[in-house]
Formats: sequence, C-alpha cells, structure tokens
Amino acid sequence: MGRVDGKVVIVTGAAQGLGEADARRLAAEGARVVMTDVDDARGQAVAQAIGADYLHQDVSDEAGWHTLMAHVMSRYGQLDVLVNNAGIAVIANIETTTTEQWRRTLAVHLDSTFWGCQLAVRAMKERGGSIINMSSVVALQGSSEYLAYAAAKGGIRSMTKAVAAHCRANGYPIRCNSIHPGSINTAMVHAALEHSAGIKLGEAEDQEALRLQLGLGEPLDIANMVLFLASDEAKHVNGAELVVDNGATSIFGMR
Ligand SMILES: NC(=O)c1ccc[n+]([C@@H]2O[C@H](COP(=O)([O-])OP(=O)(O)OC[C@H]3O[C@@H](n4cnc5c(N)ncnc54)[C@H](O)[C@@H]3O)[C@@H](O)[C@H]2O)c1
Repeated sequence: MGRVDGKVVIVTGAAQGLGEADARRLAAEGARVVMTDVDDARGQAVAQAIGADYLHQDVSDEAGWHTLMAHVMSRYGQLDVLVNNAGIAVIANIETTTTEQWRRTLAVHLDSTFWGCQLAVRAMKERGGSIINMSSVVALQGSSEYLAYAAAKGGIRSMTKAVAAHCRANGYPIRCNSIHPGSINTAMVHAALEHSAGIKLGEAEDQEALRLQLGLGEPLDIANMVLFLASDEAKHVNGAELVVDNGATSIFGMR
C-alpha cells in the first residue's frame, strides 16, 4: 500500500522544480495526481511519465480555478489534497519594485492561494483533506532583493493559519499547513544565484560539488514533506509552518 493510496491530489506549478518532484513522489505512493501549469509541453511530458492527469492553468486567473475544480469533481468525485505550489520570483527591492511587478507577484502567489484554499475547503469540508501551501523561509526573515515575493510568502503563511483556524472552528476535518523551503536546487534558485553572485548553476552532474558547497537542498527534500502532510500520518499537524532548510534560518552563525 502506498502512503497516499487513492487520494486525489492537485499540484499546481507541477511542470518542473518542486511541483514536479511533489507530483512524482505522490504518484509513486499511490495518489491520483492532477498536475497544472502554464508550461504545457513540460507538464504533459511529466504527467505522461508518471500516469498523472495534466491541465493548463494560470493560477492567477480565478475562472481557471473553477474550471479545474469542476474537472476534478466530475472526473474523480472528490478532492483529498491541494498543493498550492506554483510561483514566480521577481528580483527587486523596496526601491526598485514596480507596481506591475508587485501586483503580478501577489496575483500568482497570494490570489491563487486564496482561490485554491477557498475552493478546496468547499470541496473537502464533508470528507476532509489536506491543503499544503508553499511559502518560503523569506516569510520568516528579511530579504532585500525579493520585496514582493517576501510579502506574498508572508501572506501565505498567515492565510494558512487562518484557513486552519476556520476549519477547526467549524469542525471540518481539513488540515492546512505551510512549507517553508530554504534554497533548493531548481530553476528559480539558479536565476537568483546568477543575479546575486554571478554563479551559473545548471543541472549537470559536475556541478554537484558546487551545489553542496552552497548548501542547496534537492526538490525531493521538499516532496518528502509534502508527502507526509498529504498522508494520514500528519493527522495531528494543522496550522503549522514546516521549515525545510537544513537549519539555515534557525542555527545562529550557520552559513
Ligand atoms: N526553489 C526554492 O529554493 C524555493 C524556496 C522557497 C520557496 N519556493 C517556492 O516553491 C514553489 C516552486 O518553486 P520552484 O523552485 O520549483 O520554481 P520553478 O521556477 O522551478 O517552477 C515553478 C513552476 O511554476 C509554474 N508557474 C509559474 N507561474 C505560474 C502560473 N501563473 N500559473 C501556473 N503555473 C505557474 C512554472 O511554469 C514552473 O513550472 C514556488 O512557490 C516558490 O516560490 C521555492
């Protein structure tokens, strides 16, 4: 038996990076996975490889959320897990962030998580389920070059607790938790490293030593936490912020 056998799971932003790793891990443990993304070529290729369902979805579009939920309910008749993962990282500080960048970042991260949580709660409140929101360690500490991103991730952290509180107060068997990854080896972090340190970090094997030196985690490190929260093993974990950063934010003096 898989750890999430038969559960119907949505993973947004699942064409690459953390979302892809989540989809692969959940499918390997028996979940029926619905992947969404705006990158249809990659998304469809991954879905085909793991036997998942794929739908085009721009998470910043409210109508698309309704289409997705209608598809899931008509095809599977239930939703057990939602992973609000899709994201973008605009590199700009308080002096350089434009209004357009601010609005786009909040739309992709915060509006999407709001719509996802709202529709998931409606779909899950009788049967129960698990909502997993991807925040970041930047929600817990200052980050000069990611102003809008930090604001969005902080909002996701607080929204998660508000959703958990609502479900508990109303007796809905729904858990809602946020995950706070440190730097993980994905395209998003490659772009950040190139911008901040001029480091070009590809996927090549010969870059492994550099990745270790930089203290990067692997997408599987996050997918393992997603799997745990999606499974019934996490039945007493609710409204929590799960930091997965190998101590980077909590161990004083750690580089
Ligand atoms: N990689 C890290 O170190 C790290 C750390 C903390 C938090 N996170 C968060 O984890 C999540 C995944 O990050 P990642 O590193 O895998 O990034 P990534 O850039 O590798 O992948 C992001 C995925 O989201 C998709 N996407 C972007 N905009 C979208 C939209 N509007 N609608 C639907 N899909 C969209 C992209 O096409 C891509 O497939 C993000 O929310 C990110 O903020 C990542």
